[in-house]
Amino acid sequence: MGGRPLEGTVRISGAKNASLPDFCAALLTDEPVVLGNIPEVRDISTMARVLSALGAETAFRVGGVAEVRAATLTSVEAPYELVKTMRASVLVLGPLLAREGRARVSLPGGCAIGARPINLHLTALEKMGASITVEHGYVEARAERLRGAEISFDTVTVTGTENVMMAACRAEGETVLRNAACEPEVEDLAALLTAMGARIEGAGTSTLRIQGMDRLKGAEHRVIPDRIETGTFIAACAIAGGEIEIRSCRPSDLRAVIDKFRETGVRIEEGPDNLRIRAPRVLRSSNVNTIPHPGFPTDMQAQYMTLMTQATGVSTITESIFENRFMHVAELQRMGASVRVEGRTALVTGPTPLSGAQVMATDLRASASLVLAGLGAHGETVVDRVYHLDRGYYRIDEKLRGLGADIERLT
Ligand code: EPU
Repeated sequence: MGGRPLEGTVRISGAKNASLPDFCAALLTDEPVVLGNIPEVRDISTMARVLSALGAETAFRVGGVAEVRAATLTSVEAPYELVKTMRASVLVLGPLLAREGRARVSLPGGCAIGARPINLHLTALEKMGASITVEHGYVEARAERLRGAEISFDTVTVTGTENVMMAACRAEGETVLRNAACEPEVEDLAALLTAMGARIEGAGTSTLRIQGMDRLKGAEHRVIPDRIETGTFIAACAIAGGEIEIRSCRPSDLRAVIDKFRETGVRIEEGPDNLRIRAPRVLRSSNVNTIPHPGFPTDMQAQYMTLMTQATGVSTITESIFENRFMHVAELQRMGASVRVEGRTALVTGPTPLSGAQVMATDLRASASLVLAGLGAHGETVVDRVYHLDRGYYRIDEKLRGLGADIERLT
């Protein structure tokens, strides 16, 4: 039920998109890797199943701690059943190839936001000496020993950078990655790998220089806070109204998002690991273009669009990363939003009152945008297929309820 302003404090969980590659990095050593601040979301349990299919053991302890032990591996295959439910499973490719000299990974196929090929991962690994074939929907990769190489990505790819960075840590000699992704999650992975004994320079910049090692050791590492969950709660407060404090976050990872929300009138006070958000009385429209980090993230585009339905004026929202990430538009329109899509740009005219309706989630961030729309709508909104939400948000319903929102999970 919409219309209740938010108040109180919310604690941000660990970043899903950092935890997933961090789990895969544990495949690079036979010693235990202990990860803290792991969000207990569905993608994480799927990753634990992927690792278990390879022979690694994952144990979850209270307080978001996970221990991954890949003492010996019994398989080199990431099967279709797991990869189709979570594309990030392809992150086992680099580590398996580096450690076992072989990997068999199902091709993920398209998804609700675009075609999402993995050609750049494969070309880079080929440059490092892997022989790769794609047959019957599976990538078959082999390499006696991967060699360091100079690789320049044609497009910035987050998991591509992560896959190749992990492989390079155990290749022979030096690998240089240019046009690498600078996302905080890539930096987090580099921090874990460094704790495991890897030698990586340039993490967080677009050039990474990696010296390959014969072996890596176990390590303990705390995962960074989830910047997209943080941004989603800023949007929630801006839409619902009220004033909230967001704790255990890292504002420095959200520069473009914070600046953009401020432009629309949202009042944001920053601390080192917390944010105080005050909803504006009048929201202003503002244009946005999604670009790789440090630009405005594609993973905040849908939530931002919901906010812009409540802003005065026309906002132009351009999605430059994925070719089909406007699936939430039709659902927002059903709630009364005025959005016109022209190619990769959506023109949102506001403010339009939103009315609660039955809507369907199509992917993780689209589901979040619909929950936000529900907070700002008159009447009741029912979001179907919330399993998309559970893939990446830890108990978002409970967290919102803790802030005073009228939201419940229907079984
Ligand atoms: N691309 C290629 N070839 C490749 C790889 C990528 O053409 O080999 C293209 C993609 O099709 C896309 C662009 O490059 O158009 C960028 O894709 P990228 O590879 O960076 O995306 P990803 O690594 O598959 C990660 C996140 C996504 C996030 C994107 C962009 C993880 C597990 N996933 O995906 O997160 O949207 O980076 O920042 O880290 C989400 O959490 O909801 C989510 C979708």
